Amino acid sequence: MFLGLDLGTSGLRACLVDSDGTTIAAHEARYDVDHPHSGWSEQNPDDWVSACETVLDALHAEAPKAMAALRGIGLSGHMHGATLIDAAQKPLRPCILWNDTRAHQEARALDAIQEVRDLSGNIVFPGFTAPKLLWLKQNEPDLFDKVDKVLLPKDYLRLWLTGTVAADMSDAAGTSWLDVGKRDWSDRLLSLGQMRRDQMPDLVEGSEPAGTLRRALAKRWGISGTVTVVGGGGDNAVAACGIGAMSEGQGFVSLGTSGVLLAAKDRFAPAPETAVHTFCHAIPDTWYQMGVILSATDSLNWLTRITGQSARDLAAEVGDDLTTPGAVGFAPYLSGERTPHNDSHIRGGFTGIGVDTTRADLTRAVMEGVAFALRDNLHALEGTGTDLKNVLAIGGGAQSAYWVELLATVLNLPIDLPEAGDFGAALGAARLAMMGAEGASASDVMTPPPVARTITPNTDLRGAYDDAYARFRALYPALKALK
Ligand code: XUL
Repeated sequence: MFLGLDLGTSGLRACLVDSDGTTIAAHEARYDVDHPHSGWSEQNPDDWVSACETVLDALHAEAPKAMAALRGIGLSGHMHGATLIDAAQKPLRPCILWNDTRAHQEARALDAIQEVRDLSGNIVFPGFTAPKLLWLKQNEPDLFDKVDKVLLPKDYLRLWLTGTVAADMSDAAGTSWLDVGKRDWSDRLLSLGQMRRDQMPDLVEGSEPAGTLRRALAKRWGISGTVTVVGGGGDNAVAACGIGAMSEGQGFVSLGTSGVLLAAKDRFAPAPETAVHTFCHAIPDTWYQMGVILSATDSLNWLTRITGQSARDLAAEVGDDLTTPGAVGFAPYLSGERTPHNDSHIRGGFTGIGVDTTRADLTRAVMEGVAFALRDNLHALEGTGTDLKNVLAIGGGAQSAYWVELLATVLNLPIDLPEAGDFGAALGAARLAMMGAEGASASDVMTPPPVARTITPNTDLRGAYDDAYARFRALYPALKALK
């Protein structure tokens, strides 16, 4: 038995699978994000530990025999968060999350140093880890002096599970302290970020062992054997493991809180000028590239708060059949944007609202705006030489048939929808555990899921959506001029 733990932004999902990758039991526990000031986004690391206790106690209660046979644990986590621990391994403050933009000035200053892009392969986005520590030095200097180690969110969970301080390459790639081509901390990047190597966790590959489950925890869940905890990875790399996107040309589109268009790469080929992210994959000698938009389902979630309707009800008003683009336009820059604009100050907007505009028109506009922003990401990826022939859709938004057909039409790519079941980051994490604990090979375990349906672009509507995309392209400069 293998366990995948997926530490998401809104909750922790645990999935217990057998050696065929079949789910035996799964549980989820939710927690909150705090926004103490505009642009700030924080979480209490001990909430992750409580959630982990809740889900593992629940798995133990539901499937005690399967838990007793546990051999390996893999971890996936939201990336870039600065979890700062002191010499007693206690958190010094709430974790500063991936979607926190308080360090935008520090990010800009680091990014202006050409060496930083050269070594890290990426733009220093405000949500990345290094600028957060520079912000801390300026604004909370007493805490900065006490930082013994900086952990990424899932690595704090690992510390609690195993007592080991370790990070994996894919998550470390999002810090701006890693030499992403060499897969090692860069002393130059660390010194530019005012940090030291001894403050960094030891690095392992995502599929390598990184510790064993503490005896007391093994006993609590009725496990007598040794349980290997592998490196695991950042959520997008591990989700790619879950759907078998491991080699050149394979990828996915994720309609989650953020939106991601990801393509696996056989080699390190950074292109920071396109605002595409280039990170280490969770298995050795492999990388991936992705475009990230900050508000995908988060845009729809915002509309649910404004209208008092659930996302499901809003989507139902739009219906299932793709129609011509609506008259209302929407730019989804509710929290600024990463790819392709790298602009933490930009904010979203609606255009074309009339007295006859309905709630369904606004929902459709939100879905279209997100799809168009992902087309911007596709162009950015194509600009680096990446050629995607089709993609698999994952994330909560992929449950809307309308949104997926819209996306297939806007991207002009066939989109596969997997059969129901666990195929995301929790499964990917369990698969990494199979590799690290049992020596399974990537080609054996990282296989694509069975495809339930392939949604092809709607050729009759493509021209109309090309025109609407051209109008969408005009929105960013117009909104920028208004700031
Ligand atoms: C990736 C990123 C997000 C977070 C949260 O760069 O910031 O995908 O990992 O999901």
